[in-house]
Amino acid sequence: MMQTPFKRTSFLALLGLGLLTLACQITPIPSGRVDAARETGARAEATLETPTGIRGAAASAETHATLAAMQVLEEGGNAVDAAITLGFALAVTYPNAGNLGGGGFFLYRAPDGADWYLDFREVAPVAATREMYLGPDGEPDKAASTRGWKAAGVPGTVFGMWEAHQRWGKLPWERLVEPAAELAEYGFAISAAEAAALNRLRSSFGEDPRAAQVFVRADGRDWAEGDLLVQTQLASTLHAIALQGEEAFRTGPIVQATVAASKEGGGILLPEDFAEYEPLIRPVHRIAWRGLEVLTVTPPSSGSLFLAQMLPVLEEFPLATWGFRDPRTVQLIGEAEALAFRDRNRWLGDPASMERPWEDLIDPRYLRRRAVAELDPERYTPPPATAPQAPAESTETTHYSVVDAEGGAVAVTTTLNSSYGAKVMAPGGFLMNNEMDDFAAMPGRANQYGLVQSEANAVVARRRPLSSMSPVIVVRNGEVDAVLGSPGGPTILTTVLQVLLHRYVFEMAPEDAVAAPRFHRQDRPPVLRYEAGRLGRTTLQALQALGQPVRENAPIGDVNAIFRDGAEWAAVADPRRGGMGQVSVEGAIR
Ligand code: GLY
Repeated sequence: MMQTPFKRTSFLALLGLGLLTLACQITPIPSGRVDAARETGARAEATLETPTGIRGAAASAETHATLAAMQVLEEGGNAVDAAITLGFALAVTYPNAGNLGGGGFFLYRAPDGADWYLDFREVAPVAATREMYLGPDGEPDKAASTRGWKAAGVPGTVFGMWEAHQRWGKLPWERLVEPAAELAEYGFAISAAEAAALNRLRSSFGEDPRAAQVFVRADGRDWAEGDLLVQTQLASTLHAIALQGEEAFRTGPIVQATVAASKEGGGILLPEDFAEYEPLIRPVHRIAWRGLEVLTVTPPSSGSLFLAQMLPVLEEFPLATWGFRDPRTVQLIGEAEALAFRDRNRWLGDPASMERPWEDLIDPRYLRRRAVAELDPERYTPPPATAPQAPAESTETTHYSVVDAEGGAVAVTTTLNSSYGAKVMAPGGFLMNNEMDDFAAMPGRANQYGLVQSEANAVVARRRPLSSMSPVIVVRNGEVDAVLGSPGGPTILTTVLQVLLHRYVFEMAPEDAVAAPRFHRQDRPPVLRYEAGRLGRTTLQALQALGQPVRENAPIGDVNAIFRDGAEWAAVADPRRGGMGQVSVEGAIR
């Protein structure tokens, strides 16, 4: 709840105040405790000196970015404006996934009820070739697709934000980008978790002189919580974007310098990659479920296929009667997830590459047959030897959610793929993605383990790799009821699904729906992974008795969501990655 009267201040004054208050008030929320979120919680940071009287809400993985978005809402900006500001701010304050050098998916529910899906995912450069990530032995060369310039797809973020602003924005573009430029120019105090992440990757950053200059301390000491991270070059780039819009990323010095650095670093980016990049409007898929409409994003995201299979199939079983962590509930969800992943891994990719319309795979007769013939909550089914293999995916990425007073809502999931992407920095001060690793490096042919990756996700110039990113908006009676999404590679899909089940099937309060334990199963490997210490011994023993392999996992996902909660918005930042200084701020609905 916001408790302190808001006085109009400049952005920097607000920021300074926020930092001071943060230092005093943010209590990291231990993961693994639903009650902890409620008591100390996911919403505790809303006692920051943030605007009161705001009709709208924002949730993201980083405090300064969320505050910057709320400031935009307070000035009369809409959800799209606030999302643009939030996204650019994350590129500065959350460099492990926020980005200029990456891409993502932007889902927008407009006040008039129209739904829009803007795909600004990275594309394979024009010089990309099908076998570019195979080593001399003909096997995938993982290092080539994950580290350095060759791993980078053409970044779409600046073009995506610009397109969103051109179509739906209200406040001037420059106003929306400048907070990020100021954060980069004047610096911001890093969280304990950011400090730890930078220290952990010190040797990786050390291999790239530009990244080292920004992310390795000149005095040789480790980063500590509260240290100021100043990003001068990134500030210049952001000022240029603020002034010139997307043109700054089409042609001119930023592009020339990026292309030259790519060439020097063994990459394949060319000027035409930037000149020709197109953010795309794609179809939103609406799933009718429990009297709600669940808005999802279609390929190259696998979110729509996954949720459009899982939600109706699970309706065939009495989950609410069984209970939240009943072994039948867990095993059934795991088995159904495995089947959904099999279809995903076999058929999905860039829509331009897909041999089969994905809508065939959500035909109600097909799903009903699956529920009746293939699913049993008291059985473990191993994958067949022929089940296709998906590339191993990074669990990084980030998600942010915004709602405004006019009935608009935005869900954005954005990524550099791995944490800090390819670990190389462009001369413009922004990190490059390693999204090319989301393609199948060796499709159609068995790898050394006898597993075959799908043709639909082969590396093809100008195509986009298959993604798990799944921003979701839930609508009830024509009004936004929830906005959510998560990082986590393939666990994004299971995370988003489980938060929906927690909220709408198990009827949990917003904070609990996010904080409640999660688990993940995909087709291969068929292990059910669960958050360490959070599944319960009886349930675990019951699963093992069925033959279901199980394994402890680190916390799964990092949901930043907004739920309608009576007359207010409940903005919830996931307690799981608490150290990153997550913040949610919320407001009244109308
Ligand atoms: N690179 C993460 C995803 O696209 O799912």
